Amino acid sequence: MSVATSIAPGLTTTEASFIEDARAHGQLFIDQPYDLYSGENHQAWAKLYKRIGPRWQRYANPRFLEGIAALRLDPQSVPRLTDVNRFLSPLTGFEAKAVSGYVPAFLFFDCLRNRQFPTTITIRRSNHLDYLPEPDIFHDIAGHVPLHTDPHFADTLVRFGECAHTAIEIAGGHVEQLTSILRAMARFFWFTVEFGLMRGARPGEVKVYGSGLLSSYGEIEHAVDSAEVQRYPAQLEWMINQSFEIDHYQPLLFVVDSFEHVYDLVGELERWMRQGKLDHVAPGEPTVAEADLQSFLDHGR
Ligand SMILES: [Fe+2]
Repeated sequence: MSVATSIAPGLTTTEASFIEDARAHGQLFIDQPYDLYSGENHQAWAKLYKRIGPRWQRYANPRFLEGIAALRLDPQSVPRLTDVNRFLSPLTGFEAKAVSGYVPAFLFFDCLRNRQFPTTITIRRSNHLDYLPEPDIFHDIAGHVPLHTDPHFADTLVRFGECAHTAIEIAGGHVEQLTSILRAMARFFWFTVEFGLMRGARPGEVKVYGSGLLSSYGEIEHAVDSAEVQRYPAQLEWMINQSFEIDHYQPLLFVVDSFEHVYDLVGELERWMRQGKLDHVAPGEPTVAEADLQSFLDHGR
């Protein structure tokens, strides 16, 4: 009897041998092997999508809802990235690009600069729909990509990518300076793209545009309605010095006025970088991972 060496079906988070093989072969950018999705994988997508729909209607920024409509995602099955891109690319030039796992920070930002969004293709287990530390295709496609249909938001991501190049230009091989700049960038990205809130049309109303909230059935409601959450107008000096932890609901969120506002804040972030204002941000989370720092050092040579 031969030992099974073929690739097991299913593209479940942390359990996909296809992904392990790709990583073992150093393949970061991959083709989405659509036929490998199991029935259970499609079921997980369908459950997640159905469950969160009413909460999107209630809490999401209107541009996100327009993005969802524009992408014409199938509520029943894991999306094919080629289908997503067919609707996305004509709008802003962005495309979702399948990756086999974590993309080191410089590469990630550089992809954004080229209007490519590194996209996880695995999906969480259908019996474990709530928090998981790893991103999955539901987070990336249903949480992030709908806003990539918005020209202002798309330009904002490109500008983030340009910031990464500016960081190399000014910090080059200076590890301490670069570490502080990367911490500031990670915090700013976290409090905007991942967990941002935006003023709504009615006085006092806030809507969600951060993908970490848009892909979380529990936290999207908590972020807007809970008295436990502190919500403050976005302030750059605060955001870049504020630590965060990823494994529980966020106790502090920042509210922007509009997507133009986020775009302007990224511009301000870049100016501050050039003025040295990011060189000594407050210590604490997130820790800058060696691989992220190294990706900047490698590209700076
Ligand atoms: Fe994300």
